[in-house]
Amino acid sequence: MSTTDSQLSLIFPPEILKMVEANEGDLPIEASDTFTRFLFFVATNTVKNSPQHTAKDIAVPSVSGPLEKFEFLPGYINFVPLDEDMPPAPASADNSPPPSAQILSTILSAPIVDDFRQWQDKEAAVKVIAEHLIGMQPEALELWTDVTSDTTITNLAFQGMAAHLLAPVTGQGNVAFKVDLASLAELPVRDGNERMGATAFFDADRNLLSIYVSNDDATYVSGDDLWEHAKWHFRCAVFTYVTIADHLSGLHFGVSELTMEACREQLPADHPLRRLLKPHVYIAAKTQTTAVRVLAAQGGIAERLWPFTFEGLAMLLKQGIESGPFEPFPQRLKNSGLANLSDEMYPYATDGLALYEVCREYVENYVEIYFPGESIVDDAAVQAWWKQLETNAAGSGLGTLQTKAQLVDLVAQIVFAVSGWHSHVGADTRYLADPSFVAGKVRAGSEFPDIQSTFLIFSLNAVTGLYQPKLLDDFTHVYLELHKEKAVEVFQQFQKSLLALGRDIDSRNESRSMPLRTFHPAVLDTAVSK
Ligand SMILES: [Fe+2]
Repeated sequence: MSTTDSQLSLIFPPEILKMVEANEGDLPIEASDTFTRFLFFVATNTVKNSPQHTAKDIAVPSVSGPLEKFEFLPGYINFVPLDEDMPPAPASADNSPPPSAQILSTILSAPIVDDFRQWQDKEAAVKVIAEHLIGMQPEALELWTDVTSDTTITNLAFQGMAAHLLAPVTGQGNVAFKVDLASLAELPVRDGNERMGATAFFDADRNLLSIYVSNDDATYVSGDDLWEHAKWHFRCAVFTYVTIADHLSGLHFGVSELTMEACREQLPADHPLRRLLKPHVYIAAKTQTTAVRVLAAQGGIAERLWPFTFEGLAMLLKQGIESGPFEPFPQRLKNSGLANLSDEMYPYATDGLALYEVCREYVENYVEIYFPGESIVDDAAVQAWWKQLETNAAGSGLGTLQTKAQLVDLVAQIVFAVSGWHSHVGADTRYLADPSFVAGKVRAGSEFPDIQSTFLIFSLNAVTGLYQPKLLDDFTHVYLELHKEKAVEVFQQFQKSLLALGRDIDSRNESRSMPLRTFHPAVLDTAVSK
């Protein structure tokens, strides 16, 4: 690998450059692709050198009050650089920006080039993934085989990362369900890429019937020449929409960021609700600040991994923030018209509902200790916390806080969202392990990621998969001393219920056509901390 025509030689001293080159070996990353080379180097080292964070790392709150916020997409997305769990390193004597900020600024300004060079064949890609990339990834929750089949599209829609986008259909012949992501085509893309967007249609027995492809404004069925390309379009549209709109924007920049801000700004450090939510906003400020600066920023990972211009990317982020998952899971399911499907049809709903109910029972029992009956509604700090969320979370529909049930529903949803929903929209190794499954970009005549996309996608998934505090860890050190014994009892009951849920899911998986581990408590983190 030569560095002669790379900006890397402008950024790194020779000894670091040697490490970058050694890290790449003879891997086929384009020498002039500064950004991909840098990201792959950073990902490899981050995975190697990052400590495993556990519940002990969750800091006990000590201050509250207004936070310094910065706007990323004004009116939609902001971030708070000062983290509660990981304070920044001390500033340099002359107040100059740290070297990492200078490097980042150079990397983000590297030209955005879609390098469409293809792998020699699938075997070549699989070999590099097996030898260099899969070892950096977090655990795959399930094994998805035969990823290009029609059945995989069904599984993606009824239990995989598209399950929350499933909608019932009536009055269209034998079409009973659809996942409609056709509107992705409205987002402008760079030359050489096809417009994203597709809709998959299913019958009442979950069989895939047809796929509408926005780029072609055409509908395809099995046997058509472009059927495999249509399925590739759909899988890539799902990965794109869910990752950018639902995961990055709605969950990270929406639920996690706004909850963390409201907790730190409106709830005193020794407020029972602040302590209850603390494990669930662990390193939220740091995580979102990094996500803005490295992933979502102009010239960042997202703009390069997906085909959208920055304007298109910003449109999708705005859509995501407006549909952040604040609505309690059972209500959302009811509103979708899919609440009465069997586990055989819609296992996503069974396990998701069960996890939500365990979270809700925990929150309700904890709140009752400190605020018996309806008294939490009269707490001025809780009212201010609710009001801030209601004001800042566009489209959340929270309304005015009038009952304890509203508060318990929302807090339970937050705990559920940052653990289970994060796993649903964000545990991606299962979708990446076989490169034929999904990619960020679609080109005419290809149903496989190019070399550049492969390295970008695996590097991103590696750095967003670091080990973080688990929902089954003991985080009671953040509880108040007041009524601690009772609170710990409630926590222990929560843990017992989680373990029982894990056993239930294991048992359901034995009879399912394909196992589902998305909501298994054993794989869940306490927070959106990666
Ligand atoms: Fe995440």
